Amino acid sequence: MTVSAVRVRLCVLDDIATGLGRAFAVGGRRLAVFRGRAGEVFAVDAECPHKGGPLADGMLVGGQVVCPLHTARFDGRTGACDQPGLCGAVGAYPAEVRDGAVYVTVPAE
Ligand code: FES
Repeated sequence: MTVSAVRVRLCVLDDIATGLGRAFAVGGRRLAVFRGRAGEVFAVDAECPHKGGPLADGMLVGGQVVCPLHTARFDGRTGACDQPGLCGAVGAYPAEVRDGAVYVTVPAE
């Protein structure tokens, strides 16, 4: 049997401040994980594709991750950039809260 994706427990929800991000290493990936106002969570690649800004140091505004360097915004669910002329999308990964813990699903290595 081939496993195409794995779900990983990252932390408890309260370890992530509302509207802010936190960086995690999952397998060979570095992720930036954000908590929204309603307790929803978003997971994207940790590095901005424009000039490598640390997305976990950015903010979450209306479901969009805002890069702290030049304020490009990335959709927390799809990773699409709001300024396609500036840079491409980031990887986005399914994230959820179960029993107070944050889980993310990433492709298997
Ligand atoms: S490094 Fe992220 S917008 Fe420039």
